[in-house]
Amino acid sequence: MSSPLLAEATRIAREFDYPADQVQRGVAEYIRQSNEGLAKENTTLSQIPTFVTAVPNGTEKGLYLAVDLGGTNFRVCSVQLHGDTTFSLTQSKIMIPRELMASGTSKDLFTFLARQIEAFLRIHHNEHFEAHQRRRREGHEEEELFDLGFTFSFPVRQYGINSGTLIRWTKGFNIPDAVGHDVCALLQSAIDHLDLPVRVAALVNDTVGTLMARSYTSPGETGTLIGAIFGTGTNGAYVEKLENITKLKHIKDAHYDTHTGEMIINAEWGSFDNQLSVLPSTIYDRDLDADSNNPGIQMFEKRVSGMFLGEILRRALLDLYNNAQLFKATETSVPSDSFLHRQWGLDTSLLSDVEGDTLPQMPKIKAALKEHLAIENPTDDDCKAVKILTHAIGKRAARLSAVPLAAVLIHTGKLDTDDIVDVGVDGSVVEFYPNFEGHLRDALREVPEVGVAGDKKVRIGISKDGSGVGAALIALVASKDETLKNPVEKSS
Ligand code: BGC
Repeated sequence: MSSPLLAEATRIAREFDYPADQVQRGVAEYIRQSNEGLAKENTTLSQIPTFVTAVPNGTEKGLYLAVDLGGTNFRVCSVQLHGDTTFSLTQSKIMIPRELMASGTSKDLFTFLARQIEAFLRIHHNEHFEAHQRRRREGHEEEELFDLGFTFSFPVRQYGINSGTLIRWTKGFNIPDAVGHDVCALLQSAIDHLDLPVRVAALVNDTVGTLMARSYTSPGETGTLIGAIFGTGTNGAYVEKLENITKLKHIKDAHYDTHTGEMIINAEWGSFDNQLSVLPSTIYDRDLDADSNNPGIQMFEKRVSGMFLGEILRRALLDLYNNAQLFKATETSVPSDSFLHRQWGLDTSLLSDVEGDTLPQMPKIKAALKEHLAIENPTDDDCKAVKILTHAIGKRAARLSAVPLAAVLIHTGKLDTDDIVDVGVDGSVVEFYPNFEGHLRDALREVPEVGVAGDKKVRIGISKDGSGVGAALIALVASKDETLKNPVEKSS
């Protein structure tokens, strides 16, 4: 009954199997690499100290600004924390012009960001903005500044809660002159150039924001342990004991509060196992990496996150198209300019659409092939082959995602307590890929230290708006710092 096409699709799909024994090896290696990252710099897992030493409990209050750079859109928002686990958020969103992401200078990019902040303030906080301009014109010294949390979702070596230098770009960004520079200082200088009443108070990775936002909105006895993103990129942050972060003592002038005995670590797990000692690899993974703008790095991310899953699938489909009669029936047409032939041409949302189609006629698959790849009249076998590959690639991504989660759960010893362990997640892949959490949970269960007990013990919940609310919460922590003066009136 199985046609040669489906037999070949099934054979390729098997290359994406990621069985229990590999999950377990992955977890053990992740724990090893994470300990190495806590002890020294320049390791494959960066384990970046964030200088955030407490998670919120829902009672925090105030008005803060937050901006978010890290995906296709730049977001500006103001967040009013009500102090009762709720908040109100006003935001604007703008697509970042491609040329600013990959070919301009850092000055162009940061000037663009500051202009968006100015436009936002004029629309939503004009009174305060005008008053500031007036005081400046009259030569007053006194300043009433908005504290701003800067969500910058790239690997940054942090030196304090509001300073850090860019280690490398990811997710298709590439502005070489920014690497090695303090991104908070770059933003502050662009803001000052426009004379805006804004102080960059905190530098925030989106995973840290997710952890903070989750902890604020669903406070439990013990707070949230992990914040994780499975979206365009992937990464996680977690609460670590200060005494385990032994490399902190090498950071000059490090200044942080020690009374909780903890600090949030930004793992940068997108770069887990860049050396490929345990990560699975197919020919499609290898080719994708070789043709990317950062070969040899973000190797975990390249197997898990939205920016890459579409490209893995495109390469596998192209293989079937060239070598196994996919889309070759006379009634089927693949235009020569179809995105099937274009690198990065296949959007990851196609995977979610395909996986979500359970009907025998496969209408969503047909519609997705038409919409994304301009392919008309695919046969049923074509659609089945697409589904077989999509399922395999998505399932491997979800099972791989269990590796860092299990490792952090084991490493922090939280599985041995009586409390529920809370994990906040965000991102298009975990939110929209059907049954992502189900596959992830299957793999978690296969890790003996987690086992079936993990089903109840580990609570995984979507945490929206980490880059807004989370950044506001960190700006709040930072604004309590003595060195920051005259914050904006903190009431609505
Ligand atoms: C970045 C991380 C970020 C993640 C999710 C990765 O590419 O390196 O800093 O947290 O994407 O946005």
